[in-house]
Amino acid sequence: MALCKRRGFIYQASEIYGGINGFWDYGPLGAQLKKNLRDAWWQDMILNPCWGRKGPNGEPVRCVPVETRIVQHPKVWNASGHVGGFNDPMVDCKETKQRYRYDHVLVYVPESGDPGDKPLFAYIKDAPSETRQKKKAEKAFGAVKTISLTEVPTANFAKVLGPDAEKVGSLTEPRQFNLMFKTYVGATASEDDVAYLRPETAQGVFVQFKNVVDTTRVKVPFGIGNTGTSFRNEVTPRNFTFRSREFEQAELEFFCHPDESMAWYEFWRNFRMEWWQSMGLAGDNLRIYETPKKDLAHYSMAGSDVEYRFPFTAPGFGELEGIAHRGNFDLTQHQEHSKVKLDYFDTDRGETLPNGAKKGERYLPHCIEPAAGLDRGVLAILCEAYTVDPSRPSNEFLKLSPRVAPIKAGVFPLVNKDGMPEVAEKLHAELSKRFGLQGWIETDAKQAIGKRYARMDEAGCPWCFTVDGDTLTQQTVTARNRDTGGQERISLDKVPEFLAGKLAT
Ligand code: GAP
Repeated sequence: MALCKRRGFIYQASEIYGGINGFWDYGPLGAQLKKNLRDAWWQDMILNPCWGRKGPNGEPVRCVPVETRIVQHPKVWNASGHVGGFNDPMVDCKETKQRYRYDHVLVYVPESGDPGDKPLFAYIKDAPSETRQKKKAEKAFGAVKTISLTEVPTANFAKVLGPDAEKVGSLTEPRQFNLMFKTYVGATASEDDVAYLRPETAQGVFVQFKNVVDTTRVKVPFGIGNTGTSFRNEVTPRNFTFRSREFEQAELEFFCHPDESMAWYEFWRNFRMEWWQSMGLAGDNLRIYETPKKDLAHYSMAGSDVEYRFPFTAPGFGELEGIAHRGNFDLTQHQEHSKVKLDYFDTDRGETLPNGAKKGERYLPHCIEPAAGLDRGVLAILCEAYTVDPSRPSNEFLKLSPRVAPIKAGVFPLVNKDGMPEVAEKLHAELSKRFGLQGWIETDAKQAIGKRYARMDEAGCPWCFTVDGDTLTQQTVTARNRDTGGQERISLDKVPEFLAGKLAT
């Protein structure tokens, strides 16, 4: 977090007023890093879906974008279930002032029966309380098993020792919190004008499904992608940007025939895991977690999360992206609430007619939804890239993948004289023109070269090119690799191609 602040990746929102809980701003490097992640998503999901691979139907994957509004008709959120059901029941700890999701609190109880007058030891999975409370419970009961706090009658809460508490009975009964941000549309601000800030970008896609089908040449199976800001009045915003109240999503709703939906679900699940790996999250810190059937929503046939082991969740994992098989739940809901038919007429299906054409089939497509969080993505990328190396002048540096790095290269004159600044300036201008859409080309003529390299390392800049005495006589520069610190000499005129090759990896 200190590096993020110091180098201008992430700042507290409204910091000069003391900040506002659950909101974060991006500084210059963070804004460009996040844009690069969003652009990579757009490129690999919409413009060249799945890197040109074929889908399970043997055809290239087809996707189109939309950009829908944060404020929608309030009925959208009735139909989607968010107004009625987007609640997190929470319990508070009166002793520690901590607040927990009711269904996240687990309890150690004796394996065999009644705990008598001993406490029920509550804990949060993968948090320090898990081992601490387990030790206490084993001392009290011997063999223990786990139940959810939701299974403990609230009358027995007086016997529960909260996850971080010293005394029993500090947990309150669960209370509901609606996560929707309310606002008013129009000047009168009466209850008739209530609207909501969207809690997800997905619903904008479902309500425009018919327009996209009617006005473009898409045919099922195809996807509609939507990126943008979503808002949730999270009860417990925490862990830096991980759980914020305003965040950005990149969601794809992929529509397919019900019979092919499981194959598409598996296809997207596998591709999304590979995609996050390609963003630099390639090690053990990334995993895919398949949701057990019993935990799926009633309409969902399958679901999984791409998860990252963040420093604050370790040894556990936190969700980066959910891949959900949503069946035809959303289209059904919007069809019922809007009274507009949203079914699809598939001219490639149904029995074959005598003339060889298909009779056609009308159905509500099923939807596979890979729903990524861009802020969580940026956070995971920063956590993974953060490397401590006391042998470097910077002590710490960011091993960002070249594709997302906000600064693509540094161009430095070794010294600020002898014609070197002029050559560096020319190279800087050439590289900026060619790579400027992907990030900065930094240049700086001051300070010792080691210090300039250290600054670039901390910013995660993958390559530095230094113009020195030999440049003037032999037309070569040194190319310095951030990760190894190694240097090689390359021709001055080959620098653009050299950098293009490195950025493509
Ligand atoms: N349309 C489905 C949907 O919104 P979700 O799992 O609630 O699914 C998708 O959200 C992604 O959005 C999550 O995997 C996460 O990356 C991101 N996200 C959700 N709530 C967030 C929050 N409070 N702060 C930051 N990111 C969040």
